[in-house]
Amino acid sequence: DPTDMSSFKAHLAQSKRILALCGAGLSASSGLATFRGAGGLWKTHDAMSLATPQAFTKDPSLVWQFYSARRQAAFSAKPNAAHHALAALSIKNKDFITVTQNVDGLSPRAGHPAEQLFPVHGSLSTVKCTSVFCNYVEFNNFEMALTPSLAPQPADATEVDTDVQPPNIPLEQLPRCPKCAGLLRPGVVWFSETLPADLLDDIDGWMEKGPVDLCLVIGTSGRVWPAAGYIDQCRLNGAKVAIVNMEISSDPALGGVADADWLFEGDCARILPEILEPVIGTMDQV
Ligand code: APR
Repeated sequence: DPTDMSSFKAHLAQSKRILALCGAGLSASSGLATFRGAGGLWKTHDAMSLATPQAFTKDPSLVWQFYSARRQAAFSAKPNAAHHALAALSIKNKDFITVTQNVDGLSPRAGHPAEQLFPVHGSLSTVKCTSVFCNYVEFNNFEMALTPSLAPQPADATEVDTDVQPPNIPLEQLPRCPKCAGLLRPGVVWFSETLPADLLDDIDGWMEKGPVDLCLVIGTSGRVWPAAGYIDQCRLNGAKVAIVNMEISSDPALGGVADADWLFEGDCARILPEILEPVIGTMDQV
C-alpha cells in the first residue's frame, strides 16, 4: 500500500543516502504561488512572455516587474514546517541533499546547510549583468533592483497581477550594472537556459558516490527537465521513491508517479514533519 507510512518510516530509518527533489509546492503553504497547480502563476501569466531571455530582451521592464513582485513576496514570506523538516534532516544526515527548483530562498532561511542544498534554478535574491563580457553578480540586494518605481504596487505583495498593466517602467530606471552599466537581470534560470554547471557537477558527484536509498519528490509537477530527471537517476541508483504532493490523483505526469513506492497526498508542510519524524524527531511547532 503506497500510502502506508510505517513501511516508509522503516525504510527511512535504514536509509543513508537520500535526495529530495523539491518544487513550488514546498513553498505553497508559505503563501507563494506555484506554477501549474491550482492558482499557479502560469495559469494567469504567460511563462513565455515573462520567463525567457527573449521576453527580457523584448520587454525588460515587464519582466522586472514580475520578478520584483515575486522577490517581494518571497522576501516577506516565512519558511514553513516542510522547509524546516528538510533542514533538520540535512543536519541529522550529512549524506542527504536537497535539489530545489525554487528560487524563493526559503530553504536557506529555514537553516538548510548550503553545502547540502542545490538551487538549480537560481535565486530571486541574485541579480546579474546581461552583458556577455561582464561577470557582475549581486546577492541579496533587494534594494538595488527594487528602485521605488519597481516596487510592486499591490497592497498584498503576494498577489502578482499583470492583468492590470502596471505603468511601463522607463528603460533608464531599470537596475544597471555598476561595472559596465549593462542591464541587470534576475539571477534565475529561464526556459531554454542551462542550469548552473557547477551545481549539476556537484549533484553528479554526490550521485556517483554510491547507491541512493531514497528519493523524496516534494511539491513538484515533475514536468520540467533536467531537474525532473533526478528522480529516474535515483531510481536507477537503487532508490525507492516517495512522492509528497497536494494533487497526486489528478497529476498523472507527476515525477513518474507510476513507479513511486509511496504516495502521500496533501500539504507537504503537514506531511513532511510526520514522515521524517523517525530521523528528525518531533519538531516543535515552527
Ligand atoms: N504541498 C505539496 N504539494 C503541493 C502543494 C502543497 N501544499 N501545493 C501544490 N503542490 C503541488 C502541485 O500539485 C504541483 O504538482 O506542487 C506542484 C507544483 O508544480 P509546479 O507548479 O509545476 O511547480 P514546479 O514543479 O516547481 O515547476 C518547476 O517550472 O516554471 C518553471 O522554473 C520554474 O522551477 C519551476 C519549474
